[in-house]
Amino acid sequence: MSALRAETVLDVEHWTENLFSFKTTRSPSFRFDSGQFVMIGLEIDGKPLLRAYSMAGSAYDDTLSFFSIKVANGPLTSKLQNIKVGDPILVGAKPTGTLVLDNVKPGRNLYLLSTGTGLAPFLSIIRDPRAYERFAKVVLVHGCRFASELTYGRQHVEEINDDPLVGEMAANQLIYYPAVTREPFTHRGRITQLINSGRLTSDICVPPLDSAFDRAMLCGSPAMIGDLRTLLTARGFNEGASHTPGEFVIEKAFVEK
Ligand code: A2P
Repeated sequence: MSALRAETVLDVEHWTENLFSFKTTRSPSFRFDSGQFVMIGLEIDGKPLLRAYSMAGSAYDDTLSFFSIKVANGPLTSKLQNIKVGDPILVGAKPTGTLVLDNVKPGRNLYLLSTGTGLAPFLSIIRDPRAYERFAKVVLVHGCRFASELTYGRQHVEEINDDPLVGEMAANQLIYYPAVTREPFTHRGRITQLINSGRLTSDICVPPLDSAFDRAMLCGSPAMIGDLRTLLTARGFNEGASHTPGEFVIEKAFVEK
């Protein structure tokens, strides 16, 4: 296992009964590409207990941001959800992952399709100037069961206009499309349904998804990834990987079982 560093918790926010986020210090030598994840955790009974978490902040931030579910009997999150400012957090030294901009071919519009905490890596990507340099529009889709689960993401999107690096580009090119499945909401339905019915693209006034022009990055539950992979493949999208860019790339959200 690669080396671990002890960072310090700087901020914790609880969004719902099941979701929280936190910020930690960041070692100046810790570098990552937007969309990557790293192993983080706590020392429990003298041993490190680690899980994969995507960085939810910009690669240029002085701090690290993470977005997590709370699982009552989850070995790590049952304890992690109780962290307080000043507590130590173990952070691996080697970020990795396939959900990075270099793994998708250049194109017209970039779709960032997420459910639940699968949103986290895309909060990093929407603050990366390369996303706006390479694509005409960047469409951030976040699907959740309930509207209350959208707040963390919505706040990031609202704050992006003040970002000195990407604020202006995001104001012109970023489209935020939250969707909710289990209560009334402006955009109601699963991402798969919203794409299949053509509603997503017609709501945001762009041409229907086309593998010749459009690119997608997916992060969510294994079921969501599986269904969207089938949907995109049927429309002629090829999956990319490190060193072989494609029309879409995937990463499963790291849900604790
Ligand atoms: P639904 O409420 O219809 O199950 P979860 O917390 O279970 O990961 O779900 C997060 C969001 O992802 C929910 O809105 C859920 O819709 C949706 N979802 C679950 N499975 C899929 C799937 N296979 N394809 C698309 N969306 C999904």
